Amino acid sequence: MSAPLLQVSHVVRTYAKGGVFGQSARAVDDVSFDVAADRPEILAIIGESGSGKTTLARMILGTVRASAGSIRFKDLDLAAVRSRRQRLAFMRQVQPIFQNPFEAFNPLKRLDRYLFMTARHFADARSDAAAQARADTALRQVGLSLAEVKGRFPHELSGGQLQRVAIARALIAAPALLVADEPVSMVDASLRTAIVELFRTLRDELGVSIIYITHDLATAWSISDRVVIMRRGGVVESGAARSTLDHPQHPYSIELKSAVLSPDALSPL
Ligand SMILES: Nc1ncnc2c1ncn2[C@@H]1O[C@H](COP(=O)(O)OP(=O)(O)O)[C@@H](O)[C@H]1O
Ligand SMILES: [Mg+2]
Repeated sequence: MSAPLLQVSHVVRTYAKGGVFGQSARAVDDVSFDVAADRPEILAIIGESGSGKTTLARMILGTVRASAGSIRFKDLDLAAVRSRRQRLAFMRQVQPIFQNPFEAFNPLKRLDRYLFMTARHFADARSDAAAQARADTALRQVGLSLAEVKGRFPHELSGGQLQRVAIARALIAAPALLVADEPVSMVDASLRTAIVELFRTLRDELGVSIIYITHDLATAWSISDRVVIMRRGGVVESGAARSTLDHPQHPYSIELKSAVLSPDALSPL
């Protein structure tokens, strides 16, 4: 067996609660899982708001330090990343996709500038022509093209298109892992499925693994290989996506599922 692509091992993140007793709360509490290295996979992390998903995502991206436990990407222990050079090498391989694409881009900056800059920093594009070619390739991988995006500002695109541009930007570096934190919750419902299905295409055609963070059981069921279900910072259940979601064992997973299926639930969760 080869070493995992990502190994999350007994990870904890505490935050001070304040107050005279100096109490702390565990946003993430003893979470462990792997992402396989021998085949690309989509791993869904499912949980309600406040269950610790974003904190976990930030630790995997290296922007928040774990209070305990370890996170390894390939041979790299994230706690050991110190220099800018190491940090950039890591960022080439692990790229984020955020919830709100309008917050991911400066509204006053043309989108193509972001893509060209990323191509220069992360894809070794040394000329304008090379940067444009790299940007166009990445945009085509998400169903757009440079001609459609060139010269445009973020507000000129719909949320769905802009999230595709954000995904294209993440792909420029040819990463091994994408960490997508509720990537479609700000996108119009009618466009969500297409974006979620794009993840599956990226897995199959580019061989990229994806951590897909969501509170939506239906999309997790349809695109992911495995799921991890979180509650209050901890993992309550994990396993193969379909069998876990079709036959949940833990009372909380059963409750989550019945909440979605309940006719009087106005929206999932
Ligand atoms: N920077 C922070 N400082 C203090 N508490 C935080 C911070 N970030 C997250 N938390 C707390 O950690 C818990 C998990 O939050 P979060 O990771 O954002 O969950 P989710 O993404 O699942 O909604 C929440 O109780 C939240 O208030
Ligand atoms: Mg969150």
